[in-house]
Amino acid sequence: MNIAIDGPAGAGKSTVAKLVAESLSYLYIDTGAMYRSLTYAALQENISLEDGNALLNLLTKLDIELKNEETVTTVLLNGEDITSDIRSSSITANVSLVAQHEVVRHEMVQRQRQLAKEGQVVLDGRDIGTHVLPDAELKIFLTASVEERAKRRYEELTAKGETIDYEQLVQEIAKRDKLDSTREFAPLKKAESAIEVDTTSLTINDVVNQILNLVKERTTL
Ligand code: CDP
Ligand code: CDP
Repeated sequence: MNIAIDGPAGAGKSTVAKLVAESLSYLYIDTGAMYRSLTYAALQENISLEDGNALLNLLTKLDIELKNEETVTTVLLNGEDITSDIRSSSITANVSLVAQHEVVRHEMVQRQRQLAKEGQVVLDGRDIGTHVLPDAELKIFLTASVEERAKRRYEELTAKGETIDYEQLVQEIAKRDKLDSTREFAPLKKAESAIEVDTTSLTINDVVNQILNLVKERTTL
């Protein structure tokens, strides 16, 4: 089976997707890391984030490799380790602009389907259940209140030693959610057949177990 996990920023997608994949010995693919990698390269090359064709042209020259290790996914861009660079605030602030272009999304989706072609995959992102893997046997839509999602990001960043204002994080997350859910092509949206899980007051383990139970139900049918 293939598993699609979508939802807004900070809902817990990547943490949960990774643990579910590990538990099932499936391949985990972080599609957000691919859009972040292109954003990183575009900022390095001074390419306008408004110019979809220039971004596509750049993307065709990029080899984006996702390597799953213990708890982190190492991201290699043409062989260079950019794992921590793509989590910077400037990438986070700009990635939704890059992700809004149809030509960029088209190429990304091709690459994601290629990576997923052997099956037994867990993909997380915004359009997995609706576009990338519309036939996925299990689709999950993770949500949480914007305050809870900002709190999670705040804790993550302060643990890394970064100083950040909580209210600013709330604003940034709300802005990115809006861009992602109102864009023209493949917006962030719950697939019709997706199961929505509100993680606001759930632990990571609760969410992982809920998903594993759904997998079990489907495999024993
Ligand atoms: O981890 P976080 O939720 O902050 O973001 P991410 O999953 O790394 O995705 C970063 C951005 O990439 C999102 O805000 C979207 O603009 C874009 N994205 C997308 O459009 N489609 C996907 N399948 C995955 C990410
Ligand atoms: O990938 P996405 O942006 O949806 O979220 P994430 O990066 O997986 O999770 C954001 C943060 O929330 C991480 O530090 C998780 O450990 C934490 N989290 C949590 O505290 N409780 C949950 N139920 C899920 C995630």
